[in-house]
Amino acid sequence: MIQRFRFGTPIETGAVMAKPQIFEAAFSELELLEDGFSTLLEQGEIVYGLGETVRGINKRGWLYESYCADEPEHREDKHALYGAHNFLLLSGKKGGPGREKPIGFFFDTPGRVMFDIGYSESERLRISFEDFSLELYVIKGDSLEQIVKEFRALIGRSYIPPRWAFGYGQCRWSYPTSDVVREVVKQHKEAGFPIDSLYLDIDYMERYKDFTISEQSFGDFDRLVAEMKQQKIHLVPIIDAGVKIEAGYDVYEEGKEKGYFCKDEDGEDFVVGVWPGKCHFPDMLNKDARAWFGRKYHRLLDKGIDGFWNDMNEPAIFYSEKNLKQIFARLEEFKKQNLDVKTFFEMTGLVAGASNNLEDHTSFYHHYSEISEEYSENKIRHDKVHNLFGYYMTKAAAEAFEELCPEKRILLFSRASYIGMHRYGGIWQGDNMSWWSHLLLNIKMMPSLNMCGFLYTGADLGGFGADVTEELLIRFLSFGIFTPLMRNHSALGTRRQELYLFDKQKEMLGILKMRYRLLPYLYSEYMKAALRGTMMFRPLGFVYEEDEIAREVEDQLLLGEEIMIAPVHEQNRTGRTVYIPERMKLLRFRDGELYGEEILEKGYVYIRMPLGDICIFVREGHKFPLAVFGKGKDCVCNTEEIDYQDLELLGFGEHLEAYEYYMDDGETKEYSLERYIRQL
Ligand code: GLC
Repeated sequence: MIQRFRFGTPIETGAVMAKPQIFEAAFSELELLEDGFSTLLEQGEIVYGLGETVRGINKRGWLYESYCADEPEHREDKHALYGAHNFLLLSGKKGGPGREKPIGFFFDTPGRVMFDIGYSESERLRISFEDFSLELYVIKGDSLEQIVKEFRALIGRSYIPPRWAFGYGQCRWSYPTSDVVREVVKQHKEAGFPIDSLYLDIDYMERYKDFTISEQSFGDFDRLVAEMKQQKIHLVPIIDAGVKIEAGYDVYEEGKEKGYFCKDEDGEDFVVGVWPGKCHFPDMLNKDARAWFGRKYHRLLDKGIDGFWNDMNEPAIFYSEKNLKQIFARLEEFKKQNLDVKTFFEMTGLVAGASNNLEDHTSFYHHYSEISEEYSENKIRHDKVHNLFGYYMTKAAAEAFEELCPEKRILLFSRASYIGMHRYGGIWQGDNMSWWSHLLLNIKMMPSLNMCGFLYTGADLGGFGADVTEELLIRFLSFGIFTPLMRNHSALGTRRQELYLFDKQKEMLGILKMRYRLLPYLYSEYMKAALRGTMMFRPLGFVYEEDEIAREVEDQLLLGEEIMIAPVHEQNRTGRTVYIPERMKLLRFRDGELYGEEILEKGYVYIRMPLGDICIFVREGHKFPLAVFGKGKDCVCNTEEIDYQDLELLGFGEHLEAYEYYMDDGETKEYSLERYIRQL
């Protein structure tokens, strides 16, 4: 059951598809405060939710902020990452003194929200709003899954990518020329690694101008796309939020002429610095500007491109012209001074604070077409609607694709997001680091994101910033083979991460083979989760609600109804302790082949997991499909070569439930559970 409440004068976000009537009775689920809500948390009660953010699956014990952040330091002392996902799900301890049934809350507002989840007071949840205006949806049900399902029905069906987007993708900031792109693909092929996509980072553009192609480095772009197509490689270019200010650059000229850029207080186009230097932000909240920006993607679609990643759309700001002027003026003053402890750090802070400066967010404005009836004008200051920018940039692209190529699925994912954007595209988990803790964070974020509707997601495998080690890369891949987006990406100046550069290629190849063998299952699970509004990845506590140990496990996940995974996420480990929440069968794979089986009883067990081995735990009474590569073939090269019909089924138990296998053509949009599910 969903109840809708209204506080203040909420700004529309577009997150909810069909709003239920406002609930008439007085609001009593939470205590009402001047700036938000509060409630006591009982001992052992779990707080799930918040999608993409720091820390655990159980969010208790920290202060989170909902304000999309360009935050490459995903450390646990941070409060926000790139997404703003204001959904909480409270799950009390069975038989405990407090709430008997789980309850969900969606705080729908585009501005800043603070979630103090047992931080100031360990047994209290406090939610406060910079602007206490919101639509609040309270969702009640008998189980966590039922609540998630109702919530997902409220916010609409999750984005569905083309099937090739479940293949392995390789990225680097940057592959600077088309010949380098060719070489990277060639090396993958020569080493026998299956691969479906290669990502183009900012250097494919002419001096970082959106929708241009560098004549100098990618002069043969059309030929490159054609060659790649022949090799079944999809090129996926990046699109940034800022449009370069440059006379003669048509996107800039048009945007300026039509008044499509965000404005400053005086109505002038607001100037920020991003990759190309001075830029304007297209006003993604203005529907005309959005339609205009979205249609620009056709330039790349027309060249045969069928996938994009939208970046820097929190939006990230290196500096604003206005603030930079002030900084330079202050620096002139500093020049004349004898810098002491105070002034020296003031000076360095001044420069460091130029980026993503919150004052800049209060210095520019949108013309928000759908702001809501209660607002007499459409002009709104950016900070009030900050969390919608990346969402609406992605909506711009998705709506244009719908118009430009309505039949075809286009790959689209974004860095910034808000709930609602999950209908238009996926997200990647931003600029993580080659750190072990970020592998663990990747694991923990999957179910939290699934609850909020984000199914097409994954982290930069190997880690984006910092230098990877071979061992970390292998462990990242060993988890990444289960995530819908499986992309290896790394930053400028860090150690290269292409698999063919490492010694343990045999292990890596075995892991990738496993991905391609799992693909029918992963795709089927993805489609069912999208079409039914369920989660592909669930925390153990969702299924074993009465098992107190299972409720605390955060580094093991259930994938679908059939299997559990328990990745190694620590250095120098050849195995790990796994909690088995019910009788299960362990299947061990090496080089993509099953080589060991073992029945495990409920309880803790130490499992050996040498580098390269993939362990899958099958629940009793269940089976799942794996692709077979055909006679004489020990792998395939890409997702197209997989035989999605002739499958091997692996299961555990005497009486196995039939596996509901969803398989469509993977390209068009005629999704249908009735038509495409068959029982295996
Ligand atoms: C941002 C993106 C990253 C990309 C880089 C250069 O940091 O998050 O993925 O490689 O910009 O475009």
